[in-house]
Amino acid sequence: MTVLNVVVGITGGIAAYKAVAVVRALVLAGHDVHVVVTEGALRFVGKPTLEAISRNTVHSDLYEGVAEVRHVALGQAADLIIIAPATANSMAKLAAGLADDLLGNTVLASTAPVVIAPAMHTEMWQNAATVANVALLRARGVHVVGPAVGQLTGADSGPGRMSEPDDIVAAALAVLAPKDLLGQRIVVTAGGTREAIDPVRFIGNRSSGRQGVAIAVAAAARGADVTLIGANLEVRPPASAAIRLVEVSSTLELQSAVTDAAADAEVVIMAAAVADYRPERVAGSKIKKESQGDTLRLDLVRNPDILRALAVGRREGQVIIGFAAETEADREALLELGRAKIARKGADYLVLNTVGWSEGFGTEGNAVIILDAAGDIVGEASGSKASVAGPILDLLT
Ligand code: CTP
Repeated sequence: MTVLNVVVGITGGIAAYKAVAVVRALVLAGHDVHVVVTEGALRFVGKPTLEAISRNTVHSDLYEGVAEVRHVALGQAADLIIIAPATANSMAKLAAGLADDLLGNTVLASTAPVVIAPAMHTEMWQNAATVANVALLRARGVHVVGPAVGQLTGADSGPGRMSEPDDIVAAALAVLAPKDLLGQRIVVTAGGTREAIDPVRFIGNRSSGRQGVAIAVAAAARGADVTLIGANLEVRPPASAAIRLVEVSSTLELQSAVTDAAADAEVVIMAAAVADYRPERVAGSKIKKESQGDTLRLDLVRNPDILRALAVGRREGQVIIGFAAETEADREALLELGRAKIARKGADYLVLNTVGWSEGFGTEGNAVIILDAAGDIVGEASGSKASVAGPILDLLT
């Protein structure tokens, strides 16, 4: 992956505390992050926090580092500038091209794309001055993420809340992503299916959907036309990503949704953790202990193997990618399981990862080995789920 030099500008609004999470997400994705704060921002969040999280010196003063011409150096070196939060005042200054602080100089001295995440009270966002400034910035090519609608600092709520950190990062990285999947229709399944036992209980698994959602977001950023079939997702794709989301719960619902979507897709990526069995009968009302005694027997029936059916029925040229979640820790034994599985499934590629009580499912990071249909290793990746998505999508270019 390409390591980007990212300048994160933080201006003086209460949402500055959430900018820490923006910096963190960029660092976890492997980027080199340089934080530039305004005096106002430092009233809301401390330099030590930002230095620890960004792993770089945090700059605020225009008159420090003069010998290294810092007021332009940071901007010249940047591949991407993200300003989060962008207050009404900072947007007015950007629109006017003011350079009375380090952030203003950095932006003016840079040719990198600029992404801003406005945050302010609704009245300020809707004020004619702000509306005109935003329009001017957009016309100059500045990318505006949000603001979201929701609870503001006081009792009020409305448009003006800063977008969530992950949304800001995804939208910002999408600006720079190569559009090498433009026009490809890609279906991604994510999450874990649930099989009802009665109206209040189910059999499920611990998949959060993070890896599948990260693949969908990265594919959309690279220009693909993405349908995400989500089964009980704990995380959602950012509103800014152009992704069609179809929500399902059970394996049979997932099967029907993915079969429909696959009909006119070039690629299907089955990242969902699919239940292999479901209760033969679903009780119409809550199962009571009194009617069961000390043991409860559930008869389970096999669910269809969706991946295998997709692989068997695939059209000429359609690419089918499966996942294999295994608890095997030994690499050679894991590879053997993977090779047997891809042969059984008939998929074009299999993304192999280990899962366990604290690995894989529900975690932020992942480590995978990618096998082709012959069982040969064609890729390996580890890191954040977003950075693991890259090599998987590279299979399609
Ligand atoms: N899968 C599927 N339909 C199922 C079970 C799994 O489409 N009924 C898909 C998963 O989405 C994944 C791949 O098959 O892409 C492998 O899933 P996994 O649970 O690792 O394999 P199983 O076939 O269930 O084999 P086992 O549980 O016996 O290891």
